[in-house]
Amino acid sequence: MKMQDPAVTGNMPSASPVLTWNSPLTGGMPIHFGKGAIDLLPDLLLGLKPDRVFILSDQHVFSLHGASLLQLLSPHFAPEILLIAEGEGEKKMSNLEFLCNQLFERGITKSSVVVNFGGGVVLNIGGLAASLVYRGVRFVQVPTTLMAQSDVIVSNKQGINFAGGKNRLGVFSTPVAALADSRYCATEPLRHLRAAAVEYCKNAILLGGAHYEEALRFFSVKETFSEAQLERLLVNSLAQKFEIARLDPKEKSLGLMLEYGHTVGHALEWLSQGRLLHGEAVYHGMNVAGQLAHHLGIMPVEELKKQSLLLSRLRGIPPIPNDISVGQILTSVQRDNKKVGKGMAFILMKAVGQVNMPQDARGVSPAQNESVLTPVCEFQLNKVLLEYWDALL
Ligand SMILES: NC(=O)c1ccc[n+]([C@@H]2O[C@H](COP(=O)([O-])OP(=O)(O)OC[C@H]3O[C@@H](n4cnc5c(N)ncnc54)[C@H](O)[C@@H]3O)[C@@H](O)[C@H]2O)c1
Repeated sequence: MKMQDPAVTGNMPSASPVLTWNSPLTGGMPIHFGKGAIDLLPDLLLGLKPDRVFILSDQHVFSLHGASLLQLLSPHFAPEILLIAEGEGEKKMSNLEFLCNQLFERGITKSSVVVNFGGGVVLNIGGLAASLVYRGVRFVQVPTTLMAQSDVIVSNKQGINFAGGKNRLGVFSTPVAALADSRYCATEPLRHLRAAAVEYCKNAILLGGAHYEEALRFFSVKETFSEAQLERLLVNSLAQKFEIARLDPKEKSLGLMLEYGHTVGHALEWLSQGRLLHGEAVYHGMNVAGQLAHHLGIMPVEELKKQSLLLSRLRGIPPIPNDISVGQILTSVQRDNKKVGKGMAFILMKAVGQVNMPQDARGVSPAQNESVLTPVCEFQLNKVLLEYWDALL
């Protein structure tokens, strides 16, 4: 796999080049990324000629980085600031209503631009609010966490948690652009960086080859992340996404494999009520998916070991809280948005770098086959979950 995409170009003649990728996963929307990407914001906004600029953020992010953002914009704009509290629990209907109300009260028009400034929570709820107001006003995503920079902005999913499940209300809606400045991640807690790095390892497992080897090297010694390492992690993570986007630009079939580890992961994230971060929950979800694939005879033990080797290099992933039961997971997995009819559907791997396509067995070639979802019975999942729980005790 190539680590550099032909569509990625350096566009700043500085020592720290900002790269740009026009993502097919997001309708060609430009993602500007790397050290210094935020400096492009004033010109980007000037080009959009907004009557008003609104910044949506959370209180924590804004206390850390709001002043520098306002300073950057001050020669041209005096934005309205809308803040919500921080955390996954805030990705909820009452905050969506609050944000929409505030946007109208403060005079948003169809010519305004919303800048969502924060982690995945702010980007998801702010993206949804901007997409609903007047059936959609222009918005720019400025992710400030490694998770949001390497993952959230690479899809155009906007949403909130609702009715007992994650991301149950939302829309596909494309921002004008995303600006991912790796410098913001320097203030993130180490735990959050490690959790975000899980997605990087997940994609390395999905893609295999050079991506897997690079991830193994990256995590061979790292206890912390320097600024240069954060930049490398961001660039590598986006390179993985480029590869997947090339394979499936509409994220309808192969692109779905990005959800590897997310079926149980989302259930754990939801049930832990914030005690497990998204990436930490996906880490456990991948371990379960690997064991499930092995149990079903899809993934040979050598490949499972290869997956486990990379995952074992991730440091500091907390265990599953012991008040979460296997029964709760099973109930929660039934609410997964990949669910088909009454059955459960999982992304499973045949090998590192090779996703299982259930119709392979029926003689349909992977090129013709669009489905990467493997149907799984509840008792099979139950057995694997019980084994995983026992091993964790
Ligand atoms: N395709 C998608 O839309 C997609 C993909 C992956 C994850 N998500 C969603 O993203 C969310 C997780 O995103 P997240 O991990 O960014 O969580 P988050 O937005 O909750 O941010 C985590 C914490 O970090 C703080 N923070 C943000 N930037 C910071 C910075 N630069 N320095 C210090 N602290 C900072 C926030 O205030 C918050 O307390 C979940 O809701 C998940 O469902 C969406």
